[in-house]
Amino acid sequence: MYKDVSIIAGPSSLDLATAIAKHLDAELVPVDLRIFPDGESKIKMRRVDNDYCIVVQSTYPPTDRHLLQALMMIKRCSEDGAANVCAVMPYMAYSRQDREFLDGEVVSMALVSKLIETVGTRRLITVDIHSPASLSYFMIDTQNISAVGLLADYAAVKIKPNAPIVVSPDLGGAKRAVKFARMLGTDMVALKKIRDKDTAEVIIEETELNSSVVGRDLILLDDMISTGESIVEACRFLRRYKPNKIYAICTHALLIGDATTRIKAAGVEEIISTNSVPGINAKVDLAPLITTKLKAIIDTKKHLR
Ligand code: R5P
Repeated sequence: MYKDVSIIAGPSSLDLATAIAKHLDAELVPVDLRIFPDGESKIKMRRVDNDYCIVVQSTYPPTDRHLLQALMMIKRCSEDGAANVCAVMPYMAYSRQDREFLDGEVVSMALVSKLIETVGTRRLITVDIHSPASLSYFMIDTQNISAVGLLADYAAVKIKPNAPIVVSPDLGGAKRAVKFARMLGTDMVALKKIRDKDTAEVIIEETELNSSVVGRDLILLDDMISTGESIVEACRFLRRYKPNKIYAICTHALLIGDATTRIKAAGVEEIISTNSVPGINAKVDLAPLITTKLKAIIDTKKHLR
């Protein structure tokens, strides 16, 4: 029982916040949201008395709006006197802009970290952040938890793939794919993806695959699917090797515009993601994973008191 903890149900993550509050048996604080004709958000919530407040708000698109709403809720909790405000942002917006890739670019993550801290956040929990290095901009405690185990469990139990092989569309995701493949007791390959930094065009470089994919079920694994271009190009490349079914699994399914249609047209059987972004593909619930992490943090704090 965590009656002295308030879970603030951010508008972007209402179901997730409700599930976390239920798992913790904590107070759920509903949030009233109004969007003005000019697009501005107005947040209204009841006063919080608890010292420990957890604001659950994933910052998927519209990212700026969801981020600003999170800042508003955190600020309210701080103003109400909560000394321990924890932000749970399963999808962390802007973590792809963690450095100045091209001359003159603003390092968005450096700014976002400051904004989150300025409103009184004491701790941040995120899930499979695109760039763990981007967390170095924060001065507060940050925890990046991995949903790979949950996704692998889902694949093993629900998909029951035939002679699966795990594929990372890029070398950056190789470690994740190794972990996932190990959990499924199988092998993996990592493709060589190049993205044009100006046009965002994706190319998969010609490479010799170190494992045969012929007749096998492919699990394309990524931290996130945004425009779907990486998955579409990976499918185009891999289908020449005559695989069986193709599944696309990720933590964050942003699926911008017609991404779903294009991914399906490229031959993907099913898209599976967590509920960091709610929707029909959100088949894996993050609530138990986040709750376990929160319990560990809160219990340690109580123990230290
Ligand atoms: C990039 O390195 C990431 O891991 C994802 O592969 C990428 O963000 C997916 O974006 P999109 O779906 O637009 O190709």
